[in-house]
Amino acid sequence: MIRIAAGLLTLVATCTRDAGAADIAAGKAAFVRQCALCHTIDAAGSNRYGPNLFGVIGRRAGSVSSFQYSPAFKSMASWDWNEDALGGWISSPGTMVPGTTMGVFQGVADRDRSDIIAYLASQR
Ligand code: HEC
Repeated sequence: MIRIAAGLLTLVATCTRDAGAADIAAGKAAFVRQCALCHTIDAAGSNRYGPNLFGVIGRRAGSVSSFQYSPAFKSMASWDWNEDALGGWISSPGTMVPGTTMGVFQGVADRDRSDIIAYLASQR
């Protein structure tokens, strides 16, 4: 009986984690693997193929003045970045903004999304 209860607790803990409890360390590792090729995220970091992402949550889309955004992105970007918008963007940038130059990026797997967003939110 105790065994079963412990098993159930583990199961509940696992489900809770999958339901969105995000892991900043895992998000950092995923960022290094999947984003750092094109983006820096340190304060005043340089732009690469994509703009610097320091403090991106709460930032106006398309507002890094030293970065040359694509015409497609500039004409659509009228929002401030929040968790939901970032989730849609990194899942499929080309769906959110057809013609964006980040469209070459295939998008992140569902399991990495909330971790990466938690990491982005921590870099401000
Ligand atoms: C192949 C290069 C590449 C990769 C990989 C990439 N990006 Fe981008 N990213 C870009 C480019 C280029 C832009 C600018 C888009 C435009 O101007 O159309 C951009 C724009 C963005 C923006 C909008 C920034 C702003 O100032 O509004 C965010 C947020 C972003 N990327 C996050 C990410 C994250 C998070 C990852 C990893 C999951 C990632 N990107 C992976 C190239 C990339």
